[in-house]
Amino acid sequence: MRVLSVVGARPQFVKLSPVAKALDEQAVDHVIVHTGQHYHENMSAVFFSELRIPAPTVSLGIGSGTHGVQTAEMLKALEPVLIEQRPDWVLIYGDTNSTLAAAVCATKLHLPVAHLEAGLRSFNRVMPEEINRILADHASDLLMAPTNTAMDNLRNEGLADKSVLVGDVMVDVCLEMAARTSRQAPQDYVDGIEPGQYFFSTIHRPSNTDDPRRLRELIGALQSAPLPVVLAVHPRLRQASADAGIELDGGNLRAIDPLGYPGTVVLLRHSRSVITDSGGIQKEAYILGRPCTTLKGETEWIETLEGGWNVLQASAAGVLEAAMRPVPDGDKPWDFGDGQASNRVASLLVAGLDPSH
Ligand code: UD1
Repeated sequence: MRVLSVVGARPQFVKLSPVAKALDEQAVDHVIVHTGQHYHENMSAVFFSELRIPAPTVSLGIGSGTHGVQTAEMLKALEPVLIEQRPDWVLIYGDTNSTLAAAVCATKLHLPVAHLEAGLRSFNRVMPEEINRILADHASDLLMAPTNTAMDNLRNEGLADKSVLVGDVMVDVCLEMAARTSRQAPQDYVDGIEPGQYFFSTIHRPSNTDDPRRLRELIGALQSAPLPVVLAVHPRLRQASADAGIELDGGNLRAIDPLGYPGTVVLLRHSRSVITDSGGIQKEAYILGRPCTTLKGETEWIETLEGGWNVLQASAAGVLEAAMRPVPDGDKPWDFGDGQASNRVASLLVAGLDPSH
């Protein structure tokens, strides 16, 4: 049995890590194709080494571009690889342009496609990822959903027959990394910060980076925070702030280069709270028990809102107040999973096309 995974962007490497391990344990011939959507050392290679992912079998080296160009180049480069490899499954992850390109390419070649992290919806079609998700789900043959909400979304779109609730593979990798780094301190990664006495932040959504006025307001708010804000700067934010003439460092804001996965988990876990527009980080904050303020008007991970652990705050003016709110009392109401999702994914793929297995 041959499974061919297509990945290209940072969150996909994180998801690939436990899946690759689970496939290996079931003796699956696993081919990894890296589209090259993310290519800088700290956006790509570092994840393969830190998360002990086997090196890609094929690297397409596509790089950045507009949506049309990037997706089209991937489609063109993937086709001969899929024809040559003839996998039993093409496994696609999440909602990036690499996901969409692989979904289109594989279905046109009549290869079975399995979509991991299927069924997420923000119901905001301005987000490029929302379009990628919808198209990938409708093209795929097997939809592996992380949550009951995702299963409901798939049912509402007439996709129940090919949907299976497997849980969230990011929970698997997050729990494992939390155990692996349990003795590490935030000062191991960033000088001059104290546990519980800083905010951890990431900003990379086009809706926050690409409008200079919006970005200036957000950065201004973070600079005036009452505690240090450690901002791990995604290249899109670096570029957008340079283009708009916005200095990121200043006041209490400390801009650092993008972090690998262990550093992210350590900085999240010891933060006072988290300020982000990343879907994955909203969830990791929840798993690690830190309050999160999400810089958007909606979230795909609505479970994290339960009990006030995650709060949506699209307005820059309200961010600091939200970030300073007390840690919610009591348990986290959402049962985010048991760390076994990737084993279920591997078993499902090995069992074949029938989701009832
Ligand atoms: C992509 C995904 C998004 C995901 C994010 C994770 C799409 C539509 N979006 O967004 O869902 O949350 O990855 O990070 O697929 N760049 C570099 N070096 C790199 C990669 C990118 O400098 O290694 C710069 C380039 O200027 C590029 C820009 O970042 O134009 C944006 O990269 P791109 O892959 O287009 O989208 P992301 O914003 O990273």
